[in-house]
Amino acid sequence: MFEYLPIAPPDSILGLSDAFAKDPRPGKINLTVGVYKTEEGSTPILATVKKAEIKLLNTENTKGYMPIEGHLEYLKAVVGLVFSDQLDHGRVAAAQTPGGTGALRVGADMVAKHFPGTRIWLSNPTWANHGSIFQAAGLDTPVYKYLSADKTSLDFSGMVENLERDGRPGDLVCLHACCHNPTGIDPSLEQWAQISDLFAKKKMIPFVDFAYQGFGDGLMEDAKPLYSLLAKNPEVIVCSSFSKNFGLYSERVGAVMLVSADASRTEAALSQIRQAIRCNYSNPPRHGASTVAIILNDATLRAEWNAEVDAMRNRISQMRSMFIDGMKKTGIDRDFSFLQRQKGMFSYSGLNSMQADWLKNERGIYIVGTGRINVAGMAPQTMETLCQSIADCIKATT
Ligand code: LMR
Repeated sequence: MFEYLPIAPPDSILGLSDAFAKDPRPGKINLTVGVYKTEEGSTPILATVKKAEIKLLNTENTKGYMPIEGHLEYLKAVVGLVFSDQLDHGRVAAAQTPGGTGALRVGADMVAKHFPGTRIWLSNPTWANHGSIFQAAGLDTPVYKYLSADKTSLDFSGMVENLERDGRPGDLVCLHACCHNPTGIDPSLEQWAQISDLFAKKKMIPFVDFAYQGFGDGLMEDAKPLYSLLAKNPEVIVCSSFSKNFGLYSERVGAVMLVSADASRTEAALSQIRQAIRCNYSNPPRHGASTVAIILNDATLRAEWNAEVDAMRNRISQMRSMFIDGMKKTGIDRDFSFLQRQKGMFSYSGLNSMQADWLKNERGIYIVGTGRINVAGMAPQTMETLCQSIADCIKATT
């Protein structure tokens, strides 16, 4: 049977990282997958994570199975981190998942099983994996307008008109709480308030991908759009990831959280999430969640972790400024200052797939074919090479 299997195309993001790893050129630069790098170009383990792991090594006394929904102390701490005092935590049915991707899939599976035919609206563009995850679960994925024609700002009126006209009660709408992936373009708080009103009016349900908490304006600040949605909408699904803000990429730790209109619904919601998990990966891995729980439940470690997140965010912001200045210095007739208005790891550079190929083939610089660049992968010592290569690319291809 397996002789009939065709070769699947490489993943549009992770496939490029594989190609990068095989590239023998010494000066190569990887700005593809969303992984934070230090000035020296490494992705280190956070100091707080190391400390928590040492504590874990000394205190952990079992590798027995976890409950289906995961590590209970972790879940309590995560619900606190995400929702703060904005709602009764009893309204939240939360389960630990393997990363943010696992959270999106569990949430989608649960919805697809109980509400067949549900649609989930995706921003155009969105993270390359969103469509695949939701479609694999059986949801339809219409798209709403997001990016302006010049690709540097939000087409807010287009987005609102689109959802107002074509959205139906019971539709889910996938939103990036902060640091929109791939564009780095987020609505303002005023715009979030309007989005929230629109969903309440249309009875559409926000499905919030919260993968970059702390990378936009700060851990608490980045949750404000979510609070705006919660203020008007009784039901919300939130998917958190701790790959980025704890640097726990390969530990695969996240959470799916279903907010119901009142706490009496939570038990049923959790029981259905448990079922979705049980027939998928049965119960989650322990290590990443134990690590996060130790940090969030220890005031000193938590404060230290906050500072580590602040430092990562500030470095990304510095790289944005340095890149804009570097591009100016090349003398190229293109303004990249829009990058400073964008948030998080990613920006749309405005480069096209042909230019992405040129950069890869001619200079060993890897960016995603859509023009998305991982700003968090930039470093001062390679900035001049990067900017000059992009300028050369633009000259050679336009
Ligand atoms: C990205 O968009 O690069 C990250 O979210 C990593 C991934 O899995 O694609």
